[in-house]
Amino acid sequence: MKTDDQLEPTVFVIFGGAGDLTWRKLVPALFDLSQDRSMPLHFSIIAVDRVGLNDDKLRRRLHEGVNKFSRRGKAKVDAWNQFAKNIYYQRGDFKKLQTYSAIDQQCAKLEKEWGAKAQPIFYMATPPTMFGEIPNYLGEAGLSRDREKTRIVIEKPIGYDLQSARSLNGTLADSFHEAQIFRIDHYLGKETVQNILAFRFANPLFEPIWDRRYVDYVTITVAEEVGIEHRGGYYDRAGALRDMVQNHLMQLLCLVAMEPMVSFDADEIRNKKVDVLHAVRPIPHDEVHQCVVRGQYGKGWIEGKEVCGYREEDGVLADSQTETFVALKLFVDNWRWQDVPFYLRTGKRLTRQVSEVAIQFRAVPHQSFPPEATLDWQPSRLVMSIHPDEGIVLRFQAKHPGPKMHLRMVEMRFNYQETFETPSPDAYETLLWDVMKNDATLFMRADQVEAAWQLLMPVLEVWAVAPPSDFPNYAAGTWGPEATQGLLAQQGHSWPLPTELVDHCTLDVGSVKRTK
Ligand code: BG6
Repeated sequence: MKTDDQLEPTVFVIFGGAGDLTWRKLVPALFDLSQDRSMPLHFSIIAVDRVGLNDDKLRRRLHEGVNKFSRRGKAKVDAWNQFAKNIYYQRGDFKKLQTYSAIDQQCAKLEKEWGAKAQPIFYMATPPTMFGEIPNYLGEAGLSRDREKTRIVIEKPIGYDLQSARSLNGTLADSFHEAQIFRIDHYLGKETVQNILAFRFANPLFEPIWDRRYVDYVTITVAEEVGIEHRGGYYDRAGALRDMVQNHLMQLLCLVAMEPMVSFDADEIRNKKVDVLHAVRPIPHDEVHQCVVRGQYGKGWIEGKEVCGYREEDGVLADSQTETFVALKLFVDNWRWQDVPFYLRTGKRLTRQVSEVAIQFRAVPHQSFPPEATLDWQPSRLVMSIHPDEGIVLRFQAKHPGPKMHLRMVEMRFNYQETFETPSPDAYETLLWDVMKNDATLFMRADQVEAAWQLLMPVLEVWAVAPPSDFPNYAAGTWGPEATQGLLAQQGHSWPLPTELVDHCTLDVGSVKRTK
């Protein structure tokens, strides 16, 4: 394990330590961090849960998880043993004060062994029903008292609507200062998402044209091929708007639309992001149907296999009205973006998995080429690919070789993997590392979360009283309901086909390729 004296001794307390998130994401990420970057010289995990495990059983289970989910593949036995000896199991009921006293004692014991004060990090990897309770117990047990060192980490869902989000933020604030609260949106830990800031603000090239004068419209797509997997119980209550738009897509929108930050300070960046949310034009209740499309998948075909419809999935009601697809048209009412539509879409069981942001530039103001030169003329487009391809593609017009003036669309591509030749860390690695460093830049502040809910409340309210009459309205394996095209067509726009970054002819930065 690589260690770093700069990082404070850390006790990482996971509520829900025997659960899925710990097994799949948290411990594999912490283990990978211990192998790739450096960990605090003194580091321990206390996994708190109600099930009957002990240290050995827990370590075995977590070892399996690491072997299965670590991006480095199977863990070397020595490396794992070295890491695992600092993992402890603490059996306890989250609703009993003595569980918290036991954690306190365990922390004190570790601090004594280390001869140093530790920073306790409390991670809530529990069902959301516990989110409102654990912070109170932590406060009551005095575990949140060290405002400098103690941190609490919470994942979505941060509320079910604006009111419940406010109430949860209020509960957290009763025991913790805002600076101690780390709200995770794992999209912000993705390298390519962070690269949006680097691309925009570390290069003077595009920023001058990043506005309403040059940008025609922006599309943000987060499409998934998978269905709801084993999460029917959660998803059927949430739906795509709460599960994806309120958090991940809103964060992407903020990064694309925000003003340049003055410094790389956590609050400076978060202020700029929240400014975007405040500038988004509220959707009037009577325009929800024009501005938002919802969908639910029926059965269909994915990669040559027939898959069931949403209503046939485990844990889903047979007449469920939960949306598995949403597309929205938003406007950011400020100097930079007035009247430029931002189209957002996300859905399950779509044609393929792709997350990307496409900036569609305006047409040239005057077409000086003869009509026959521009038969397949299309405006320039910049695509930031987030997943699974990672990179940036710029499409523009070029002259086709030959005696005649004939223009064609070509592409310039930057591919992350090819350029950097190092695998990107998993988002959780980045985020957990930041929590240990006490850097909140990539985490959501209470006001951001609430501003995002506020924007979506009219949609939730209208949907609550006007259930869909046409569900399921798209077949698995397609790009969603037909009305999604109409949302853009009203303004003569269209969703771009997903950009391919990797294909048979491998190209580097600067290489130019003719589009198909
Ligand atoms: C989660 C959602 O936050 O993000 C899931 O709850 C979704 O429904 C997932 O599948 C997508 O994340 P990623 O990193 O796979 O794009």
